[in-house]
Amino acid sequence: MACTSCHGDGFSDASVMQNACESCHLEALNKFSDTHPKSKFTDPRNAELLSHLDATQCVSCHREHKPEITRAYGVTLAKDFCAHCHQDIAEERDSHKEFGFETCTNSGCHNYHDNTALYENFLRKHANEPALNKKPKIPALTGLVEWNKKNKQTPPLQLQDADAPAAYKDENIVNQWALSHHATANVNCSQCHAQNDNWQITSTALTIDSCIECHIKQNESFKEGKHGMRLADKLSKKLSPMSPALATLPMHQDAMSQINTCVSCHDPHQPDLTFAAADACLGCHQDEHSTNFYSSKHGQLWRDSQNGLLPAEQAVSCATCHMPRLKKGKKVHAEHNQNANLQPNSKMIRSVCSNCHGVEFTLEALASDEQIQSNFSNSLEGHHSSMDLVRDRIEQRKKKQ
Ligand code: HEC
Ligand code: HEC
Ligand code: HEC
Ligand code: HEC
Ligand code: HEC
Ligand code: HEC
Ligand code: HEC
Ligand code: HEC
Ligand code: HEC
Ligand code: HEC
Repeated sequence: MACTSCHGDGFSDASVMQNACESCHLEALNKFSDTHPKSKFTDPRNAELLSHLDATQCVSCHREHKPEITRAYGVTLAKDFCAHCHQDIAEERDSHKEFGFETCTNSGCHNYHDNTALYENFLRKHANEPALNKKPKIPALTGLVEWNKKNKQTPPLQLQDADAPAAYKDENIVNQWALSHHATANVNCSQCHAQNDNWQITSTALTIDSCIECHIKQNESFKEGKHGMRLADKLSKKLSPMSPALATLPMHQDAMSQINTCVSCHDPHQPDLTFAAADACLGCHQDEHSTNFYSSKHGQLWRDSQNGLLPAEQAVSCATCHMPRLKKGKKVHAEHNQNANLQPNSKMIRSVCSNCHGVEFTLEALASDEQIQSNFSNSLEGHHSSMDLVRDRIEQRKKKQ
């Protein structure tokens, strides 16, 4: 991040800064319908509130270069800042009388921006669910429907069909490829390698650009998350790919020389979605949360599915949570931006957990840092007080009627 990406050319106008923040972030905030968008405060009835805190400006709450006061999610205000505008909440709701303003956020009750899994109507709809649903609702991947339609008539490619020059026909590689979905779907050696003059094997273009032509969606979302954003097409200056050596999170020492491309998770000659979903990740990530994965119930289920004891859709891998399957019309593909549902973590409730668990159970799990660190290895009661409040309101309404 260059200084000019926020400050513009001269260190001048506040609107330059505001525009910069919005140009990178607004689309994502709007996607989850921000609870406090600017438009809420341009309403004259709310203008008074802004004299306490100018919430139309991102920098009122997210001040840069102040590590000593910066909290999680880049917030630089005191923990009870909601009080500036919501002093009267205790009058409106008896139930909130005892609560301190420092408890509004980050405990599974409210967020400032994204409340899509926390607003009252949503909770009411899910007020009485068991900890675990009977049947998980994870859809199957649909793959490249158009390509497969076009190539359906052609029989799968065989060992002898490999079209690489003899010098490159490594026996292992040819054998692996012949068993892969690429060979089945008529993708030959040259379809990836032709991107490179004279079969230059060393270029990073081979590991990403050669995949893009066919896997457009995966490429787009890969370049929106931390793994791929340094390669985003919209960057004016080309950066080197992300690498464990550039990370602030703990990474495996022997992964330091690697770079993040498509082939860090997919062996191009033998793409294996099971390997990609957990063991590939653990080749680089070495923080406590990640290394605890295989001791959790989820991790055990994942082992079981690898051993053929249950279908992969009923197990939970790293990718189940961080790269969930997205449904668009009839098509289902894997989200390749692992930051899309990472913050605040209640984003995972709708996209991931509620496919298998009741909402109250997941509110409790996600509100706990210990649970996250242990990768959900501890057992839970399946109770969250936010849900009690909702159930009380349902009762009150029934009485009124
Ligand atoms: C992510 C956006 C962002 C980036 C990138 C950024 N700044 Fe800032 N900078 C800010 C914000 C926000 C403020 C506070 C502005 C305000 O209060 O109105 C600020 C304030 C400053 C100030 C005023 C003194 C202070 O600490 O408040 C200086 C000097 C400054 N930045 C220098 C830099 C330099 C040099 C770089 C590149 C190394 C840089 N900034 C990169 C957002 C950014
Ligand atoms: C009144 C304070 C306030 C203002 C103004 C504000 N934020 Fe936030 N922001 C927060 C808080 C608090 C969080 C922590 C997570 C939450 O509660 O939603 C947060 C979290 C975030 C996050 C990370 C989590 C997420 O939901 O993606 C981003 C990115 C973000 N803000 C960007 C912005 C941008 C861009 C603006 C200006 C358009 C802005 N914020 C204005 C308070 C504010
Ligand atoms: C050039 C694009 C760009 C600009 C300009 C930019 N950001 Fe960001 N911001 C990012 C990226 C990339 C991340 C990290 C992505 C992620 O974690 O999903 C990020 C992360 C954040 C976060 C979350 C931080 C955390 O620790 O969790 C907040 C809050 C945020 N930005 C606010 C702002 C504000 C306020 C401004 C304007 C002063 C701003 N950003 C300007 C690209 C930008
Ligand atoms: C700068 C003033 C301001 C601040 C600070 C503020 N809010 Fe709000 N909030 C509002 C306004 C204005 C509304 C809209 C009220 C209405 O429509 O009646 C609102 C609405 C809400 C709603 C209801 C949203 C809906 O659509 O149902 C929630 C929940 C909420 N705020 C939580 C919070 C939390 C939690 C914080 C602190 C992290 C916070 N607010 C900080 C001004 C603010
Ligand atoms: C000429 C088109 C084409 C190119 C180039 C291509 N693929 Fe594929 N890929 C396919 C087709 C067709 C399938 C068949 C399965 C499907 O329908 O998704 C597939 C399947 C896959 C799968 C799923 C495998 C499975 O077991 O289900 C992965 C992962 C994959 N490709 C990764 C890559 C990577 C990484 C690259 C670049 C190094 C690449 N592909 C280049 C067409 C292509
Ligand atoms: C889906 C795209 C794709 C297909 C199909 C493909 N390759 Fe590759 N190949 C790659 C990529 C990407 C690399 C670089 C791998 C790396 O950097 O880790 C590579 C590397 C190689 C290497 C260098 C050795 C190695 O393991 O890195 C050889 C040799 C090779 N391919 C031969 C072939 C042959 C022969 C075929 C057909 C039987 C073939 N490839 C089919 C994408 C593909
Ligand atoms: C080649 C190494 C490598 C592999 C393989 C890899 N990652 Fe990463 N990952 C990274 C690096 C480097 C970062 C950036 C970390 C940083 O900035 O501190 C990252 C970032 C992340 C983040 C964002 C963290 C944050 O705080 O913004 C998540 C989540 C993540 N990876 C999950 C996964 C998952 C899940 C897998 C497997 C499906 C995986 N990673 C595979 C290297 C890797
Ligand atoms: C049941 C869901 C789930 C599973 C399974 C899971 N994670 Fe996470 N992961 C989370 C949640 C929730 C967070 C916290 C997000 C937050 O609070 O911002 C997280 C955070 C992370 C982070 C960011 C850590 C940080 O400090 O910023 C990384 C990296 C990560 N996970 C990697 C992995 C890897 C690798 C695996 C598999 C070995 C894995 N996760 C398995 C849900 C999961
Ligand atoms: C961090 C690891 C990781 C990286 C990097 C990665 N993938 Fe994937 N990819 C996965 C996982 C895990 C799945 C399977 C998810 C599932 O089973 O739900 C997958 C699935 C796929 C599929 C199968 C079907 C689908 O719809 O998503 C294709 C094709 C694919 N990836 C291509 C790519 C391409 C092209 C790139 C580079 C732009 C890439 N992947 C980068 C981990 C990764
Ligand atoms: C594909 C289905 C599935 C998804 C998605 C899923 N889980 Fe689970 N989870 C399970 C199953 C099955 C168990 C094991 C239940 C048992 O054996 O009692 C479990 C166990 C747990 C446990 C441990 C309970 C204990 O007593 O040890 C926690 C905590 C948990 N899940 C939280 C989450 C959270 C949070 C998410 C979303 C980020 C999530 N899960 C996503 C299926 C899922």
